[in-house]
Amino acid sequence: MTTFPITRLAGRRTPFYYYDIALLEQTLDTIAAETHDRPDFIVHYAVKANANPALLRIIMQHGLGADCVSGEEVKAALGAGIDAGKIVFAGVGKTDEEINLGLDCGISCFNVESLEELAVIDELSGRKGTKANVAIRFNPDIKASTIAQISTGRRENKFGISTDMIDEVAAAIKGCRNITFKGTHMHIGSQITEMGDFVRLAQSMNATVSTLEAKGLTVETINVGGGLGIDYHNPDGAAVADFKAYFAVFKDNLRTRPGQTVHFELGRSIVAQCGSLISRVTYVKQGCGKRFVILDAGMNDLVRPAMYKAHHEIQNLTPHGGAELFDVVGPVCESSDVFGGDVTMSTTRRGDLVAIRSAGAYGETMASRYNLRPLAPSYTDKDA
Ligand SMILES: Cc1ncc(COP(=O)(O)O)c(C=O)c1O
Repeated sequence: MTTFPITRLAGRRTPFYYYDIALLEQTLDTIAAETHDRPDFIVHYAVKANANPALLRIIMQHGLGADCVSGEEVKAALGAGIDAGKIVFAGVGKTDEEINLGLDCGISCFNVESLEELAVIDELSGRKGTKANVAIRFNPDIKASTIAQISTGRRENKFGISTDMIDEVAAAIKGCRNITFKGTHMHIGSQITEMGDFVRLAQSMNATVSTLEAKGLTVETINVGGGLGIDYHNPDGAAVADFKAYFAVFKDNLRTRPGQTVHFELGRSIVAQCGSLISRVTYVKQGCGKRFVILDAGMNDLVRPAMYKAHHEIQNLTPHGGAELFDVVGPVCESSDVFGGDVTMSTTRRGDLVAIRSAGAYGETMASRYNLRPLAPSYTDKDA
C-alpha cells in the first residue's frame, strides 16, 4: 500500500509523478517468487510502460531483461545497465537505423513482425557480415477481453504475421542466409485480467511451435508477450497483480521441451500501481448542475482517461472529511481533458493535493507538451 508523505510532497511544484519504489520492489520480488521453480522462464520488462531511469535501474537490479519497441528504448535499457543479451526488440516499423543499432549492440533477438521486415534484417545483417537472431511474431487472431485500442492479437490488427501464413514463414526463414532463427513470439494485448485469454494464447503457441518443428525448424525461445492487467479500482487492496494465476497458466498450458526458454514481456503489471500523478487543485468551480475540481495536471500529463476512457482512482490527500461528487478535470483546452466524472471525494478546496492513482504505466511515457505545458518531473519515495 502506498502512503504519501504529505508534508514533504506539499513543498514541491505540481504536477509531478510520484513512484513508490518499495512497492515496485515488492512486485519484482513476487515475480521472482512465482517463477523461481522455472529457471526456463525469463521475464523482460516492457520499457514502453515507463522508461523512467530510476525505475529501470531497480528493474535491472532485480535481473529482468527488457522488451523494447524503438531504438531509443534499446538505448534507455542499455543506459540503465540492462545487458544487451537480455533485450528483445519488437515493433511493426523498425527502421534500418534501428535494426542496425540492434545489430551493433548485440541484442538477444528481433521479434519480427512481417516477411518484409525479415528480408530487410537479413540484408542489413549480411552487409555487416553478421547473423541476426530473430523470433517471428505471430498474430494468433485471439480476441482478448480488453478494449479495442490495446488489443493486438486480432487478425485485423497491424501486429505480427498471421498464423495462416506459417508455411510462407518457414520457407522465408530457410531462405535467409544472415539470420539465426530463435523462436516464436505472440502478444495479444494489454490490461487483460481474464486468464482464459492467456490459456488460448498458450494453446495457439503450442500449435504454432509444433507446426514449425514439423517443418524442420528448431524453436529455442517461446515468447508469450505481456498483457497482464491490474485492478485500477483498488490500487491499495490489489497493489500487486495476480502473478500467481498468470504464471500458473503458462506452467499448466504451455508445452515446452528441454532446452527451450519461455519469455515474458510484462509492462503495466510491473509498474502501474507504484505510480501516482500528484496535482494541486487550482479551482473548485460551480457549473450548471455539476461541480468541477480543476487540477493543475492535464491530459498531456496522463492521457489514459482521455484516450481510452480509462478509470483511475482519484484521492484528495489533504483531508477535510465529508464526501462530495465532482467532475475532476485538467486545464487543457479540450473537453476530453477529464480525469473522472462523478467522482466521490472528500470535501475539496483550492490548494488541496490530489493523487491520481495507478498511473505508473503508460503515464509518464505518454506525456506530451500539448498546450506547451512543461513535462511533469518525477520523484520517488526514496527522494521525496
Ligand atoms: C510487443 C509488446 N510486448 C509487451 C507489451 C507490454 O504489455 P503490458 O504492459 O500490457 O504488459 C506490449 C504493450 O502493448 C507490447 O506491444
